[in-house]
Amino acid sequence: MEISVTLNDVKQNDEFKQLIESSNANLKVLGYTEHGLRHVGYVSKTTANILSTLGYDERTIELGAIAGWIHDIGNAINRKDHGLTGSLMAYDILIRMGMDPAEVTQIIAAIGNHEEETGTPVNAISAALILADKSDAHRSRVRRETADRKDIHDRVNLSIKKNYLAIDKTKKIIRLVIQMDNTSATMEYMQIYLSRMVLSEKAAAYLGCWFELVINGNVINRRKPVPAANVHPKAGETEVSED
Ligand SMILES: [Fe+2]
Ligand SMILES: [Fe+2]
Repeated sequence: MEISVTLNDVKQNDEFKQLIESSNANLKVLGYTEHGLRHVGYVSKTTANILSTLGYDERTIELGAIAGWIHDIGNAINRKDHGLTGSLMAYDILIRMGMDPAEVTQIIAAIGNHEEETGTPVNAISAALILADKSDAHRSRVRRETADRKDIHDRVNLSIKKNYLAIDKTKKIIRLVIQMDNTSATMEYMQIYLSRMVLSEKAAAYLGCWFELVINGNVINRRKPVPAANVHPKAGETEVSED
């Protein structure tokens, strides 16, 4: 019998708990930034907030939150193709938990399309998950024990003091606002994030919006005239990312 599996059910599931823990541990060995409960919690909440702000139904919002929570479990196997391996593992576990296959297939498509190498937004959950995941660059992601300013990923993340996603529903803009200090530079951010930002543009387009990237008050990717952005959500905008 199909059961309405909740985010809480997924959080309590021992297999998912172990896969998230192992993924984060493996990535620590490889020198990657934090991919544990802080990251998946941020992505889960932000994916749900994006879908909610854009008016999707309650169940789609919950499926987005579930997809966000488990999107990186493939790293328990290998960083390469972790979206694809993660979606296969998630399919098996969610079906065993009793989730409706029609819901499971939406989630595995979102997990399997969240990486820039092979991903394309194929449904609303997938588009929201891409925007949430790619927006999570912040100094709190750098692991204190291994922080190394000679490493560009650590340097860029350490320099980001503030980041948030905001949605202007009227103007149909999804804006990623980043404030960096001089530890790094916009050029270095773009070296790492360019392909992720291009994927974020596609994800916003899937949701019927423009994606706007604002770093230190400058719009990096403007394609049509919009009022000058500043670093605080303005009237009519909803901040959707969460720590
Ligand atoms: Fe990932
Ligand atoms: Fe991620």
